[in-house]
Formats: sequence, C-alpha cells, structure tokens
Amino acid sequence: MTTRVIHSPTESDLKDAAEIIKVGGLVVFPTETVYGLGANALDPDAARRIYEAKGRPSDNPLIIHLPSVDEVKKYACPPDIYFELAKRFLPGPLTVVMPKKDVIPDTVSAGLPTVAVRVPSHPTASRLCRLAAVPIAAPSANLSGRPSVTTLKAAIEDMDGRADMIIDGGESDIGLESTIISLAGEPTLLRPGGITLEQLRSVIPDIKIGGAVKEKYDGRAIAPGMKYRHYAPDMPVVLLDGSDEAFFACVAERCAALAAENKACGVLCYDEDLPHITPAVREMLSLGPKSDESAAAHRLFTLLRSFSGVDVVYGRLPKSEGLGLAVFNRLVKAAGFDIVKL
Ligand code: TXA
Ligand code: MG
Repeated sequence: MTTRVIHSPTESDLKDAAEIIKVGGLVVFPTETVYGLGANALDPDAARRIYEAKGRPSDNPLIIHLPSVDEVKKYACPPDIYFELAKRFLPGPLTVVMPKKDVIPDTVSAGLPTVAVRVPSHPTASRLCRLAAVPIAAPSANLSGRPSVTTLKAAIEDMDGRADMIIDGGESDIGLESTIISLAGEPTLLRPGGITLEQLRSVIPDIKIGGAVKEKYDGRAIAPGMKYRHYAPDMPVVLLDGSDEAFFACVAERCAALAAENKACGVLCYDEDLPHITPAVREMLSLGPKSDESAAAHRLFTLLRSFSGVDVVYGRLPKSEGLGLAVFNRLVKAAGFDIVKL
C-alpha cells in the first residue's frame, strides 16, 4: 500500500481523509495526546484492518473518537456524572468507558458490553471526526508493543505502507495517551494521562484506582490492553529507585560490568543528573528538568524510540503525583516492571 503523507492539512485534505475513513481505509491523524490510527468504527472490516496494521491482539478494544459530547448518546449510555466531567474536561485528553449501544460492532469493543469514548480537542482530529460523520475508532498509531507515536517521523517509521494516509501535526502537545476512566461500574481510573487523578477527584472524590495503574497486571485489570508489554524500545529498560547518589553509583557500576562483556548502556534521566553520570555511558537522554512533568510526558516516547546502539537502558523511577503518575505508569510498563530498589 502506498501511504500519502499530508503536511499542513487544508480543508480539502481533511475531506479526502474523511472519505478514506468512510470507505473503510486507515488514516493516521494527530491528536493532543498522541497520533491515532483511525478507521470507521461502524464498519467491522475497517476496524479489523486496524488490528492487522498494528499487529494488535484482537481482544484489546478500540477507543471511538467523536467531534462533540452531543453525539455520545448515539453510541453509549452515559450516566449523569459523565456530563459533569465533560463540562470540566471535554473536549480533551479524557476517555470514558461506558455501556455501549448495539451500533458499535464487537470488533471495536473486542466483545465487551462497553465502549471507550473520547472527544479530542486537537483541531485536526476534531475536524476529521466532524467530516467523517461516523465515529472514528483509533488506537495509538504505533506497532503493537512499541512506544506510542508523537511525531511524524515515528508515524512514518511504524505506519508507512500500512495506512492509506498520514496527516502531519508536528509534535504531539501532551505526548502521552489520554486518561481512561470507567463509568460502567464504580468510577475507576484505568489509565492515568493528561487529566490527572487530582483533577478527576474534584468531580468524583471517591474514584477508585485500577489495579494496572501502578502495579503489574494481575489478571483482574479491566482495561484489556494493560496485560500486554507496552511502550518498549528495542532493548530492556531497568528502573533504579533510590537517591541521586545511589543512582549515579549504580549506573557507574553496572555500566563498567557491561563494558567488560563488550556491551554498552544508555541512561534516561533528568537535566540535573547529566553532569554526574559516568562518561562511560554511551547514550544519555534527558526528560528535562526534574520538576517539569509536562516536559517528561512530552519527550518520553520519542526518547524511548531513539535509543539505538545500547544493550540496556537505565532509568529513574519518577514521582507519581499529578501528570507524573502517567509518566510513572508508562515507564514502569516500558521496563516490564523491572525495578531495582537501591
Ligand atoms: O490518547 C489516546 O487515548 C489515544 C489517541 C489516539 O486517542 N488512543 C489510545 O488508544 O491510546 P489505545 O488503543 O492505544 O489505548 C486504549 C486503551 C487500551 O489499553 C484498551 O484496552 C483500553 O483503552 N480500552 C478500550 N476500550 C475499552 C473498554 N471498553 N473497556 C476497557 N478498556 C478499554
Ligand atoms: Mg496504544
């Protein structure tokens, strides 16, 4: 398949993209969180193409994207609290799981009685949803298991030859996927993201925290995607949990041990750490200043994708408050929960 790449999309380009979606094709488009791989959510064959293009297991359901909150009732059964949340946070990086209506095919919901609904704020995503006039099923536009796509370069790396069109939207603003909550039973946070737990608590004070947010999937998590290895670069990631001094010492020691076996190590850290890390480290990448959680969110997936000539990456366990919880969640998954307490 030849993939058309569109820069600075015009209204006419977006009409072409909407047409591709309507006839069952695949379009990679920018959102405020990460790039999505979109298809007509009412067409089971189109949805099936998403799973094929990503190499995604068929038991992992898709999020549907709508141009406005007014359309949600056509596809899902939102409880009253949904509209309270919507007043505060939508359009924006919040996805809500609710009981689904029959028009949503099982291919999209992976056989579940629920559907995850998102109303994105990115103008390109929003306009595309409006022009397509059907809900757009869109997972993140990465190959299954890889870090999500937050730049055109990553979109081309993973989806060239697999999607009909890629729309360039520059670097994703937030850089991590949307917050997901379930309102299908007791309100529960399933995946932390751009809307923080603290913000959600201002509307739902007693919201539960799903089992897969901070810990390894234990078979009970309700977001099926949580059980798969995620966000992984091409080499293992190990997180070191300890003081600055313990981190620098451990990296120096492990890096020397690896060098003795002719292996190289990489480090994922913060600006303040850079001067203290052994020069024996081959690739040293920074998430930004330690206190800047949005910089870390914005850079994380690009950095995870850019390690290349190293055998292991050592990272630091981030703080888990505010947007930091989302960074924490993605990093521990990238590391497959390989965390060393120093
Ligand atoms: O920011 C985002 O949410 C991006 C952009 C493109 O909108 N999309 C995204 O989709 O991250 P995806 O498929 O990569 O992640 C969606 C997660 C998966 O872990 C999936 O299992 C979960 O949402 N999910 C989808 N439908 C669900 C449902 N009905 N119940 C529980 N979890 C669901
Ligand atoms: Mg994904």
